[in-house]
Amino acid sequence: MALKIRKLAFALGAEVTGLDLKQKQSDDAIAQIRQAWVDNLVLCFPGQDLGPQEQMAFCSRFGELDDHRSRPHWNRPDFPEVNIVANKPVVIGGKTLQVLIADKWHTDMSFSVRSATASFLLSKTLPPIGGDTMFANMYRAYDALSPSMQAFADTLEGVHDVSLAPDFHRYTPELQAERRRNHPPVVHKVVRLHAESGRKGIFAGGFLRNFIGYTEQESRPLIDFFNTHSTAYEFVYRHAWKQDDLLMWDNRCTMHFAVQDYDCSQLRQLQRCTLFAPVSGRFLDAGQPAAASTGMA
Ligand code: OGA
Ligand code: MN
Repeated sequence: MALKIRKLAFALGAEVTGLDLKQKQSDDAIAQIRQAWVDNLVLCFPGQDLGPQEQMAFCSRFGELDDHRSRPHWNRPDFPEVNIVANKPVVIGGKTLQVLIADKWHTDMSFSVRSATASFLLSKTLPPIGGDTMFANMYRAYDALSPSMQAFADTLEGVHDVSLAPDFHRYTPELQAERRRNHPPVVHKVVRLHAESGRKGIFAGGFLRNFIGYTEQESRPLIDFFNTHSTAYEFVYRHAWKQDDLLMWDNRCTMHFAVQDYDCSQLRQLQRCTLFAPVSGRFLDAGQPAAASTGMA
């Protein structure tokens, strides 16, 4: 079957059909998918009812799978490479998994020196209606800045802090302390050059606390500007999930947001794999333990 690509929105997003991802894909198909992903930022593969191992097999064709050692409370006990994203505690193999509600614009693992390249999210159980995910195109957001603001943004470095996670307030004090210990604040450039597209994009999001050389109070209005500007309607695609949709997005040039527009008494459960990025940031404070340098602990 030939792979078919259909754009989902002007801002970003494409649907990829004609593939059964339970089957091993040829190197040529993987190369075509990779190109479509770089071009469209978010890909949707509908109708892919993959188990955890099948999802891992497909995702690992694109890079090194994160074993999520630094965030064990969301992992399947049998396959730590698979995170469960659920709005209620679910029990798998006797382990009760932590809830994950990502209702803040962010890029995955931006609070790590090895933030994520790709994330792959597969819908397993959806509420009858709603529970969409929005994605913003950070290239378009950068391109739309004035040349003066682009030049200024190019000079900025941002501090990303895990304690600004959307659901941090829902964690126990012990889990909050563990998250801080595993992820001391890191520094990333506010404008990133994408290694594969060669385009510049804004790297902001909900974990951004302040800019190096500026106080939090001074930084806040500009952080809010970057996040609001980048998520204007014209830069955003909103995905209405169907059962067995597998989404693959590029964290290097997008942000995303889980919209809480559904009946929260209903279960919403998805399964995620994440790919490690090369080390691109640094720790804010010197002298972090070696284990933290890969985002693990
Ligand atoms: C994630 C995430 C969005 C959603 O898994 O990283 O942000 O809609 N999920 O649940
Ligand atoms: Mn996320």
